[in-house]
Amino acid sequence: MPVSLRAGVRPEDRIAVRRLVASTGFFSPSEEEIAVELVDDALSKGEVASGYRFIFAEDAGQPVGYVCFGPIAGTRGSHDLYWIVVDDTRRGRGVGRALEQACAEAVRRLGGRRIYVDTSSRDQYSPTRAFYAACGYREAARLDGFYADDDGKVIFVKSLD
Ligand SMILES: CC(C)(COP(=O)(O)OP(=O)(O)OC[C@H]1O[C@@H](n2cnc3c(N)ncnc32)[C@H](O)[C@@H]1OP(=O)(O)O)[C@@H](O)C(=O)NCCC(=O)NCCS
Repeated sequence: MPVSLRAGVRPEDRIAVRRLVASTGFFSPSEEEIAVELVDDALSKGEVASGYRFIFAEDAGQPVGYVCFGPIAGTRGSHDLYWIVVDDTRRGRGVGRALEQACAEAVRRLGGRRIYVDTSSRDQYSPTRAFYAACGYREAARLDGFYADDDGKVIFVKSLD
């Protein structure tokens, strides 16, 4: 895999995150804004205080994907995987799997026991659901009509025990 992994977020990642999220064609402009807001929060408060940790996959110093995750307040060992995105031109070549593995290792080191991730039930997200299953997640719940009448929320969980 011709990419290297780098933990931690930097000011220049703001632009990279916007570019990566937009490249997928999966997310609305408001979702794009939310992705950048998490970067801003981590940059201004620090990753620990904000609760948003980042790992980037880079090729020749250029981000080609990233994962954002953090502990869920009020739980013992539950973490959320908030975003995982691979540049559209680099999908299907192991970058996402490498990012998810690095995320799971980081959560384990932090004493985490479980990782939760939400996604959509729409057909467009069927490869995303297949990706989570391939990374060891199982479907824990399905909330029909959550995002819209025809768009449910699927919650996946991976146990690190
Ligand atoms: C989901 C995503 C992060 C996966 O990253 P990726 O680099 O494309 O995935 P990988 O190449 O590491 O694939 C790992 C495994 O997932 C499964 N998988 C990946 N893409 C798949 C697809 N299109 N269809 C079916 N299974 C797929 C495969 O089992 C694959 O293993 P294999 O290549 O050994 O068969 C990436 O495709 C992406 O950014 N998608 C759009 C945005 C998105 O949905 N993000 C998640 C919601 S926040």
